[in-house]
Amino acid sequence: MRTLDDIDVAGKRVFVRVDFNVPLDKNRRVKDDLRIRAVLPTIRKVLDSKGKLILASHLGRPKGKPAEEFSLKPVGEYLARLLDLPVVPASDCVGREVERQAAGMEPGQILLLENLRFHPEEEKNDPEFSRRLASLAEVYVNDAFAVSHRAHASVHGITRFVPVCAAGYQLEKEVKYFREAMEDPKRPVAMIIGGAKVSTKIELLENLVAKADFLLIAGAMANTFLKAQGKEVGKSLVEDDHLETAARLLKKAQERGVKVYLPVDAVAAPALEVCGSAQQVSVDRVPSDLLMLDVGSGTLEVFESVLRTCRTIVWNGPLGAFETTPFHQGTFAMAKFLAGLDALTVVGGGDSAAAVRQAGLEDRMGYVSTGGGAFLEMLEGKTLPGLAALEECRQRTQP
Ligand code: 3PG
Repeated sequence: MRTLDDIDVAGKRVFVRVDFNVPLDKNRRVKDDLRIRAVLPTIRKVLDSKGKLILASHLGRPKGKPAEEFSLKPVGEYLARLLDLPVVPASDCVGREVERQAAGMEPGQILLLENLRFHPEEEKNDPEFSRRLASLAEVYVNDAFAVSHRAHASVHGITRFVPVCAAGYQLEKEVKYFREAMEDPKRPVAMIIGGAKVSTKIELLENLVAKADFLLIAGAMANTFLKAQGKEVGKSLVEDDHLETAARLLKKAQERGVKVYLPVDAVAAPALEVCGSAQQVSVDRVPSDLLMLDVGSGTLEVFESVLRTCRTIVWNGPLGAFETTPFHQGTFAMAKFLAGLDALTVVGGGDSAAAVRQAGLEDRMGYVSTGGGAFLEMLEGKTLPGLAALEECRQRTQP
């Protein structure tokens, strides 16, 4: 990959696609700044190299129309405070006014374009819109790993219209860790997969069965596997139409010599809201009026004994209903356990990464991805359109 270190940005207008799709509170203040902090090294590099920095992002899903609630202005103000530098907000991301603003920039200045998704052409990867975005700059940098699974104009189409493309430091880091964990990992390798539904993770499990030594399955999706093995799971969430899928995946893992670990016990309750009456149950004796909402202590012990032997661990998806007390405990215990291991630990995919951050353990993991859907698609073995576009641009522009 050509990166920011391979290109000269001095005196040039540099269009940096970032992912500032961050949660805002009801007063429109940034609630979680992980994605903003993640791109600071790229921002600083462009500014220190005397580049003219044009930042572009989406925020939320405004459905192709401008809407105040999706404006990037609060993010720009937050960034300005972080950098202690002015960040000029543009009123749009294309058009005469923005072109004029971009043309008048001095080295070291920052212009933040307004939400790209205020234009339907962004998500349609419209060539003319891509060209208009590209016309603002002389260099294009993608530092938006978390949206690189979208073939959108600012991620994909734009690369056809700029003379120079490169990956930013955050994108480079995400890809580096991912490759280290998935393509040439130190073995044994364990994958911990949690979350609610098997149906959303079939492709991912198919891919992991070919890569992992151990597969640790938890979260509500484990119930479907347990039922596929003939266990009674009480009122627990199960995808009955995916029992066969679960059975097939277990068989495939066995054929490939991948050891699969499912929960041996669970914290169960009559309902998610009735947490006062939560109790630990064996998966062999789940009362018919209870549902399993978190892994039990026996499961954690089994998982931990496997993980202690591993040199590479990838974690995607919470182990229980981690947003509701006391069903958060399994997920947080796992985060704490992984933080103390001497292995490469890569966490990604929204909820599990959020749990690690909530537990304040981010710095003690090998790597916590900024990606949700993008991380998942990488785990599924897919090529992200944003990465493919950078590579095509490199081949086209570099003999
Ligand atoms: C994310 O939050 O996963 C990315 O910003 C992509 O957002 P999207 O799912 O709305 O495309």
